Amino acid sequence: MRRKLVIGNWKMNGNRAGNTALLSGIVAGLNDFGADCAVCVPAPYLAQCQAELAGTPVAWGGQDVSVHACGAYTGEVSAAMLLDFGSTYVLCGHSERRAYHGESSELVAQKAVAALAAGLTPVVCFGETLAQREAEQTEEVICAQLQAVLDAIQPEQVGKLVLAYEPVWAIGTGKTATPQIAQDAHRFLRDCVAKKDAAAAQSVQILYGGSMKPENAKELMVQPDIDGGLIGGAALKATDFLGIIQAV
Ligand code: G3P
Repeated sequence: MRRKLVIGNWKMNGNRAGNTALLSGIVAGLNDFGADCAVCVPAPYLAQCQAELAGTPVAWGGQDVSVHACGAYTGEVSAAMLLDFGSTYVLCGHSERRAYHGESSELVAQKAVAALAAGLTPVVCFGETLAQREAEQTEEVICAQLQAVLDAIQPEQVGKLVLAYEPVWAIGTGKTATPQIAQDAHRFLRDCVAKKDAAAAQSVQILYGGSMKPENAKELMVQPDIDGGLIGGAALKATDFLGIIQAV
């Protein structure tokens, strides 16, 4: 049985005072819900997460990672630096980075390789645009995005991934995928993983992202292949984030 996982992606949001209020609100509201939880924050706030979340049930991590271990790569953040601040997770290939920074699936795969090599858990993001969905290209698109990662990592590493299906047309739009659309995509991704490693396919957590809110989380979380959520807007308010965790 896969344990549920809810990760808040703060994107480029936050300030030190507000972060303390948000983090303390989340920690104070957690009970023994049936889910693990984490926050992926802008790199400048990793030290604050380490200071304020250490010893709590809330893990933390980054939103991107360099493919390089160190060196002349201005502005990049290495896996070792994320680990320096106690990170567990790192997002790889979020659709906003694929769109705004031209990250190819091959580059995303190398980011996942770098994260795994350092001992981080990569949360690799996949998703189709509205135009691709309307052209019935969803499976072709997300399969190619996933296959690039599966081709780059070692077979024994498949089970160390977390996958996130985030239909681009649902991100930040309020247009959440229906439970059936999301379940179908998750099942398809899990079947793609099974072709590489049948056992890992059953254990790998596949999160849904795209306008998940407390009001719709339950109907998504009960789907057999949805193992949690990758939350944007609703992660910025403790009561909303907790409401999603409680829906597990
Ligand atoms: O990474 C999660 C994010 O893309 C989803 O954003 O605001 O639709 O929950 P949102």
